[in-house]
Amino acid sequence: ALVEKQGFKHFMLKEIHEQPGVVRASLDAYFNNFGESSESPINLGLPADLYNNLEQIQIVACGTSWHAALIGKYLIEQLAGISTQVHYASEYRYAPSPVTANTLIIGVTQSGETADTLAALAMEKERRQGKEPQYQGQLLGITNRSESSLGDMVPNIISTLAGIEIGVAATKTFTAQLMAFYALALDLAARRQTVSKDTLEKIINGLRQIPKEIEATLETQERLTEQLAHEFAETKDFIFVGRGINFPIALEGALKLKEISYIHAEGYPAGEMKHGPIALLDAKVPVVAIAIPGSVYEKVISNAQEAKARDSRLIGVTPVNDGEAAEIFNDLLPVSDVEELLSPILTVVPLQLLAYHIAARRGLDVDQPRNLAKSVTVE
Ligand code: G6P
Repeated sequence: ALVEKQGFKHFMLKEIHEQPGVVRASLDAYFNNFGESSESPINLGLPADLYNNLEQIQIVACGTSWHAALIGKYLIEQLAGISTQVHYASEYRYAPSPVTANTLIIGVTQSGETADTLAALAMEKERRQGKEPQYQGQLLGITNRSESSLGDMVPNIISTLAGIEIGVAATKTFTAQLMAFYALALDLAARRQTVSKDTLEKIINGLRQIPKEIEATLETQERLTEQLAHEFAETKDFIFVGRGINFPIALEGALKLKEISYIHAEGYPAGEMKHGPIALLDAKVPVVAIAIPGSVYEKVISNAQEAKARDSRLIGVTPVNDGEAAEIFNDLLPVSDVEELLSPILTVVPLQLLAYHIAARRGLDVDQPRNLAKSVTVE
């Protein structure tokens, strides 16, 4: 089908705006199993033996999919209590981790065609067939294109529901991958009974509010990020910080900016700033801090204060717009007040918009950035 821009200046901007719909589609598809007798309210269509006796999970991915996997790890470990590692596929394929008999391997690739991810999975498939047959754990693919090389290789697939993405910098496919990980982590948690029915229900109800929470802030965020883009179009370096479940969002914010605006950016877990990156800070290096009330809020605020003391301009992605904490920020990119556990789906949006507007302001080819390809089918 021919995909059009529908009045948006670039596909990337259109795809950012499609994210509420992607979350709705994912909720309808995965969270629909509410029968009295059902073991779990989530239905991913996976065989029961994939869930049995799981000891650990290894995830392989590249780029933005790797960031989604880091959030997946957080969710699976914190909700379902299964030890989970995330690897760059290009590293893992040459130095695989020792697996136990019941290790689940998950490959995350939007395109289903990334060479390194496919190679890492092929290596794992071989370990399971013949060569080292004591391994029982299965392979699972998470992809936006089930009819792909990944789909051919891996029998168990969670299809993400982003629809076709044209912009090279992934946006809505990332959100769709997050939704797949929320579903998988909650499914595992329900089956293993590591969270109570009430908590499960509370989290799922929270997820159902997300589409309208994104919609509620999109317009404001558009305006604010466009304004900031004026000021930062010529900035040379950016630092993004977050902690806990929002650390991978700091990585993703930095990656988006690098990919399309060609500005050097680093994402860091805020608590690690003092071990090196803080030496880079001065009035010319803005810091974007993701500060969501919850387990690490005060910590992020105090890390942000340290950056401010080095004269960095501070931009806060936060629902808190008054009080002492919020006053440390020079600029605010507000998000709705949701549970920390669900916040990455909201906090990534202003960072996508910030990268978009800076690149657009610099007159760059947002949808086709230099040196990058939508899917990298060579090693
Ligand atoms: C390329 C794209 C990135 C993407 C990465 C992984 O580098 O430019 O946006 O995140 O590949 O792609 P995949 O299709 O495996 O998710």
